[in-house]
Amino acid sequence: MLKFISSMLQKVKQFVDGLFKISVYPNTPQHLQRTLECILLLRPDADEAVQIAAYSHDLARAFAKNTFENKAFDDPQYLAEHQEIGAKAISEFLLQQGYEKNKVDRVYNMVRHHEEGGDEESNILMDADSVSYLLKPTHLRPEFIQSLGKEKVKTKLEYMFGRIHSNKAKEIAKPLYEKALEDLRKI
Ligand SMILES: [Fe+2]
Repeated sequence: MLKFISSMLQKVKQFVDGLFKISVYPNTPQHLQRTLECILLLRPDADEAVQIAAYSHDLARAFAKNTFENKAFDDPQYLAEHQEIGAKAISEFLLQQGYEKNKVDRVYNMVRHHEEGGDEESNILMDADSVSYLLKPTHLRPEFIQSLGKEKVKTKLEYMFGRIHSNKAKEIAKPLYEKALEDLRKI
């Protein structure tokens, strides 16, 4: 009998989806799937390690205790923790699964730096994350506007657009960003 062997990306999806199902952010896998699609749009030849990083970059949110932590979106300590927790969690999973060490290291590095970039692969993930977010800016939802206020939501939109590295991603993101600002003004 043939044994079905799934790719490591499929295993990662099962692992990540399972954690988010029981988290305070159950819809995050939709953002992760969009980020994966965006990374393939920006870099059609992105290999499995890049795709895994895209699907797991926000894994830290699966361990969050509540959704309305009142911190600045660009708070350096918050961002460092968010990146570090996710990078460690996905790396541990990949090592348990016997994934190649050099690929685990690359995934760790991308997830660990997806907020600020700094090298080619981290920059691609950061850009894909921004485009994914601007395609569907979660914070325009009424519950976030109510709890955070319009000004803070605006800073999130500015942060997500402002950090984009490549011209290609900027071009794709610009109309999305402008529409999000317009939608926010109308609220
Ligand atoms: Fe993200």
